[in-house]
Amino acid sequence: MRVLVTGGAGYIGGTAAAILLERGFDVTVLDDCSTGHLEAVDSRATFINGSILDNATVAKALQGVEAVLHFSAKSLVGESVTKPEIYWNTNVNGARILLDEMRTAGIKKIVFSSTAATYGEPKEIPITENSETKPTNPYGASKLAVDYMLTSEAIAHEIAAISLRYFNVAGALKSSSGWLAERHDPETHLIPNILRASDTAPLKVFGSDWPTQDGTCIRDYIHVVDLIEAHILALGAATAGSHQIINLGSGGGYSVREVITATEKVLGRQVPAEFVERRAGDPAVLIADITKAESILGWKPSQNIEDMVRDTWDSFQ
Ligand code: UFG
Repeated sequence: MRVLVTGGAGYIGGTAAAILLERGFDVTVLDDCSTGHLEAVDSRATFINGSILDNATVAKALQGVEAVLHFSAKSLVGESVTKPEIYWNTNVNGARILLDEMRTAGIKKIVFSSTAATYGEPKEIPITENSETKPTNPYGASKLAVDYMLTSEAIAHEIAAISLRYFNVAGALKSSSGWLAERHDPETHLIPNILRASDTAPLKVFGSDWPTQDGTCIRDYIHVVDLIEAHILALGAATAGSHQIINLGSGGGYSVREVITATEKVLGRQVPAEFVERRAGDPAVLIADITKAESILGWKPSQNIEDMVRDTWDSFQ
């Protein structure tokens, strides 16, 4: 079976393509390398270098495909506030074009890369798929718009669709061609920033007075390999005429301090860190309820925070 991986030159999409190929799937990658990296595209995949916003390119990428894993998107929360038009265009119009071309080609299965940012500031912890969706930035809003799009199109056009709402993705895969590292510029994510901290540029911890046990924010971290395993299970679980939304996290949380401690254990040395002001838009606690992923996909995460830190570290060497 051939699967189209949109955004397959990125950190998560590239990991998906590599794992699919290892499992015997045929893979086509569509990416314009605007934030992804050409060298991250697996050499065994058919690569279409082009934009999700171009109908003819998307139609070409869909040739011979039976299902789509749709990762291609803009994903920086801060940038989405200053340049929302890019987010509405790439994320929403991109999905719109993809679904139109899938319909023309008669392709009826899609797994969509959604986000916990669709929930916004949570009223309840853990967050279930029935929790209120009230995104606090255009990134989350654009992903929520696509979730709505999929719900209506699944019913109208008999599409089998699953949206996977990721919490905090970390770790890395060592594929047959080497580590597929997370590479963002600028890097905003906690674990890469902890690993890069030095005496001259200590980690900036955003806030020490949050309403949590140790005063730092709590997040739910999930290893990228566990995340992709859930996507492959979702390809099997998606049913015609239905759109399901499923959270992907570990079901537990770690504070920033606890992630630093886990990193110190893995590295065997102290991490230089300083407390600074809270970062705008950060909720205090985000933890997923993953009961639905367990029951619908038969999935459970297998890697813990130290595995994620160690693999991220190894991927940087
Ligand atoms: N943090 C620091 N210092 C840093 C970086 C992060 O203290 O240098 C803190 C943040 O304040 C936050 C936690 O570490 O409390 C995690 O921050 P990340 O930037 O790693 O991740 P976020 O939780 O902000 O965001 C991630 C994804 C988003 C997604 C969101 C959904 O990056 O795309 O999870 O929960 F929308």
